[in-house]
Amino acid sequence: MKKDFKILSIESSCDETSCAVVVDGRICLSNIVSSQIDIHTRFGGVVPEVASRNHITAIDNVVKLALKQANCTLDDIDAIAVTYGAGLVGSLLVGVSYAKGLAYSTKKPLIAVNHIYGHIAGNYLTFKDLTPPFICLVVSGGHTAIIRVKDYNHHEVIGTTLDDAAGECFDKVARVLGLGYPGGPKVSKMAENGRENIIFSKPNDSLGYNFSFSGQKTAVINYIHKLEQKNEPIPVADICASFEKWAVDELVDKTIKACLDFDYDKVVIAGGVSANKRLRHDLKERAEENGITCYVPDFQFCTDNAAMIGSAAYYAYKAGVGIADLTLAPKPNLSL
Ligand code: KG4
Ligand code: ZN
Repeated sequence: MKKDFKILSIESSCDETSCAVVVDGRICLSNIVSSQIDIHTRFGGVVPEVASRNHITAIDNVVKLALKQANCTLDDIDAIAVTYGAGLVGSLLVGVSYAKGLAYSTKKPLIAVNHIYGHIAGNYLTFKDLTPPFICLVVSGGHTAIIRVKDYNHHEVIGTTLDDAAGECFDKVARVLGLGYPGGPKVSKMAENGRENIIFSKPNDSLGYNFSFSGQKTAVINYIHKLEQKNEPIPVADICASFEKWAVDELVDKTIKACLDFDYDKVVIAGGVSANKRLRHDLKERAEENGITCYVPDFQFCTDNAAMIGSAAYYAYKAGVGIADLTLAPKPNLSL
């Protein structure tokens, strides 16, 4: 593969329209993210139809800006990459259609990327020397999984959530407390001034590397409703701190156990919830105690962005996988 291989990547799986230019899977020349948060906040969550319409409006400018910021023209680009799943079908369709059009009109290769492999690759952009094998905890709005990353294109899921994803649970707790969307950062901010004094439900001891968040979510909701019924004040900060501690402990305990059981000396986190300060801090601390090196991605590569897709695409293309043609279609339920 030639040196300075430039990939123009597109990400539109949920409510962020993003385009990036990435060199050799490691250097991010541009990473434009047009967020629809302000639009969806009004509805308390992402409205799929609204999201796809806004992707259509934004995508052309986002791509132009990404090229401009990278100081490139389409002639400088070697391949086009796009997220084709998992995600909202209408949102994915916009990115996939645009990427297919671009690849066809410029006669450049098209690379199809799994959104979650993209999240993992966000770490390759942050740490230029990071190479597999490692254990990765993927925590986003749609996924929670512990993965053995054996090589760039060889992933083995060893644990996953049996019900809700971690991010989904943060969002739901925030919604019930009236904190708004997206809930993760809001719960985390409130937690800074709270006490971890409420036990909603017991830890899940029997699930091995798997997670269950729905029981805890229901316990938090019931706790709030009971106080409301009695007309008692809701200790919002304490609820946030106690819930966050429970969730982070679950994630960290199981991830460290996986590292020790499978004898890995590197641990990585990925996905929107990896922006959570407590998770970043606690995982690092526990990893250090156990002689494991912990990698947490730059904040810009935690939540959805196209640069991570460009990095994953580079390693897929190099290995001859993920090469797509004009029959490429979105796969909303694409698995890991
Ligand atoms: O990866 P992402 O941007 O989109 C998906 O692929 O789902 O993740 C979004 C999720 C949301 O549930 C959001 O509340 C959560 O990541 N999130 C956080 C934080 N920042 C984003 N959760 C906890 N603490 C945060 N600081
Ligand atoms: Zn994501």
